[in-house]
Amino acid sequence: MVAAAAAGIAGSACSRGVEHTPSPSTSGAPVNPPLQFPDGFKWGVATSAYQIEGAVTADGRGRSIWDTFCARPGTITDGSSGAVACDHYHRWDSDLDLIRSLGIGSYRFSIAWPRVLPEGRGHVNRRGLDFYDRLVDGLLARGISPVATLYHWDLPQALQDQGGWENRDSSEWFADYATVLFTRLGDRVDRWLTINEAKVIAEQGYQYGRMAPGRSDLRASGAVIHHLNLAHGRAVAAFRGIRGTGRIGPCLQLAPCYPADDSPEAEAAALAADTTENALYLDPLLKGRYPNLSSINDRVSAGIEAATKDGDLVVIGAPVDFLGVNYYTPVVIDRGGRPVQPHPISSAGWQQVYPQGLDDVLTRLRRDYASPEVLITENGVPDDPTDSSQPTADRARVEFLGRHLRVLHQAIGEGCRVTGYYAWSLLDNFEWAAGYSQRWGLVRVDFSTLARSPKASASWYSAVARSNSIPGD
Ligand code: BGC
Repeated sequence: MVAAAAAGIAGSACSRGVEHTPSPSTSGAPVNPPLQFPDGFKWGVATSAYQIEGAVTADGRGRSIWDTFCARPGTITDGSSGAVACDHYHRWDSDLDLIRSLGIGSYRFSIAWPRVLPEGRGHVNRRGLDFYDRLVDGLLARGISPVATLYHWDLPQALQDQGGWENRDSSEWFADYATVLFTRLGDRVDRWLTINEAKVIAEQGYQYGRMAPGRSDLRASGAVIHHLNLAHGRAVAAFRGIRGTGRIGPCLQLAPCYPADDSPEAEAAALAADTTENALYLDPLLKGRYPNLSSINDRVSAGIEAATKDGDLVVIGAPVDFLGVNYYTPVVIDRGGRPVQPHPISSAGWQQVYPQGLDDVLTRLRRDYASPEVLITENGVPDDPTDSSQPTADRARVEFLGRHLRVLHQAIGEGCRVTGYYAWSLLDNFEWAAGYSQRWGLVRVDFSTLARSPKASASWYSAVARSNSIPGD
C-alpha cells in the first residue's frame, strides 16, 4: 500500500552511484536521513508540443490557434511565437537521450492536433502521426514510460473557424482525433491525459483574452467549460471502446482557496473562488454533477447551463483511471472578494510559492473525491532573477522543488494515493503570452543556438529520481 510504504521509511539515498550530498543544518548538527518515496513511484519531466516543438510548417502540420494568436500584435510580451521554440521536432532524439542521461523514468509530452489532423478532422497526416510514433518508440527504447497529453491548447485553426470549443461538436471532433491516436499508439502509451487545464483555457482564452483564441466573452467561456468537460468524457468513452493497454485521466490545475482573514465575508469569498478554481471541473468529472453555480459569475453559469444537455453528465462523469494534478499556486481572497498575495511571489507574477497548498489539494481529493490515484503532472517555477549571475545555477528552483517534494512525501504518508511526479518543465520553452521572458526548464536552452545545458536543478532532480528519495532537512 502506497501510504504504508511511504510513511516514515528512510531508505538509502544511494542508488546507481548517485548520492544526495548532505548539507549541514544551520545548527551544524547532522541532517536528517533522506525521505524515501514508495517503490515504483514515477519521476518524470513534462513539456507540451507548442511550447517546444517549433517546426510549425514541417511535414504537413496545419495551423493552430497559437500560430494565429502569436501573429496578432501585442499578444505576446516579447513579440515571439512557438515557430522555432526549442526545435524539439528535429532534436527529439537527443532530447530523449538527455532525459535518459538524467535517469528520469517517465516523460509527459503533448501531441499537436494540427500535426495529426491538419484540418482538425478528416484527413490524417501520416508524417505528423509518424513523429509521435517515433517519439514513443524512442522513449520505450530508452526505458522511459510515455505519458501523452491529447490536448495542450493548440487547437487546429480550421476548427476554431467553426467556433472551436464554443461549438458543441468540438467534443465529437476531439473524440475522433483521440481515436486516431489510441488506434496508432494505444499499444505503447502508458498513460493518456485528455485535456490540459480546462480552467486555464476557459479563463485565459475566453474570459481575459490573454491566451489563444483571445476572446473575452463570459457566457461563451461557460459553454467552453462544458464542452471541454464533455470532450474529456467522450475521449474516455472512445478509449474504453478501443481497449488500449494504458490508462486514461484528466489533467486539472487545482488551486486551494483560502480566506485572507477569519471574517465570514472572506470565508464566503474563498468558498466561491473554490467553485471557479476547482469544483467546476472536479465535480462533473468525479461526481457526475456540477457544483452549485449560484456563487459564480451569472454569465458564466448561464453559458454552462445552456450548453448542458440531457445525458452529458453521465458521459463526463464516467470513471477515469487516475487524476493528473498540476499544482502551482494557492488562491487567497480577502473580505471584499479580491485576490491577494500574502505568500512569496515567483517571477511569473501570478504564482505564490506555498508548498503546503499541495498537501491541502491532495487531502481534499482524498476526503471529498473518494481518493483517486493521482499523478502530479506539473509543478515548477521560473528562474529567479537573483540566480541570474550564472544561468544554470538555479538555486531557487532546487529549493522550490525540495520544499514541494517534502510536502508531497508528507501527503503520501498521510494516505494520499500519489504515484508519480512530473517537474515542469524539461526545457526552457515558449511560455505562452510571456514568450521567452520566463525560463521554466530544468535544462537551459540558449534560444540563439538552441544548445541545451542542464541546470543545477536537473542534477538535483536526477539524484532524486535515481534514489527515489529527497534529501532530509
Ligand atoms: C501549463 C504550462 C505552462 C505552465 C507555467 C501550466 O499551467 O500547463 O503549459 O507553461 O503552467 O505557466
